[in-house]
Amino acid sequence: MQIHSAKFVSSNSEVAKCPSGHLPEYAFIGRSNVGKSSLINMLTARKGLAKTSATPGKTQVINHFIINDNWYLVDLPGYGYAKVSQASRVRFSAMIEKYLQQRSNLVCTFVLIDIRHEPQTNDMDFMGWMLEQQLPFAMIFTKADKLSKTAAAKAVAHYTELTLQYWAEMPPLFISSSETGQGREEILSYIESLNQLSKQNK
Ligand code: GTP
Ligand code: MG
Repeated sequence: MQIHSAKFVSSNSEVAKCPSGHLPEYAFIGRSNVGKSSLINMLTARKGLAKTSATPGKTQVINHFIINDNWYLVDLPGYGYAKVSQASRVRFSAMIEKYLQQRSNLVCTFVLIDIRHEPQTNDMDFMGWMLEQQLPFAMIFTKADKLSKTAAAKAVAHYTELTLQYWAEMPPLFISSSETGQGREEILSYIESLNQLSKQNK
């Protein structure tokens, strides 16, 4: 898919104030510093579109970007600095929870995982919650440039093996690097196919 235009629309801390929900929407979520904002810039080929930082906690609100005047990308705050609740479920913010549950035009959420890390409790809890809520998601392994191709493939295989001890099947998986552009075509094609489906279902 070609990106003809990518524009910032708004930043909101309330779901009700997000832009009108008549276009398909894709959100990026994951631990702080995993590379959500960088990935949005890589996919849109617009360097400063989403604000990035080496310090975790840069993105604090729900940020909408409109792509090709036709669909939204959403940059969300990271989780992973919040304290774990009594039920040992991660307390990602009520704002994110509401957004994910209430945003009816949200077609797919991309859960970002640092390719160098073993499965983390808060990621597994978050994805478990998504499954429980029956909210569709795909996984994107980020920062693949930090490993060799072979090591990256091994890391994903290892992650999959561990995860499949708990899940019946894996969601769609992508490997990406915002440094090299790896994964860009695959992720954009996936979004394009979902855009087509969401049009047909209207
Ligand atoms: P929060 O908004 O704080 O939750 O973080 P985020 O997930 O949006 O991460 P962000 O895109 O701001 O990137 C965090 C740091 O990781 C920055 O220093 C980026 O330059 C770096 N980074 C992000 N993606 C990549 C990548 O693919 N490769 C490498 N080497 N570094 C990356
Ligand atoms: Mg960010």
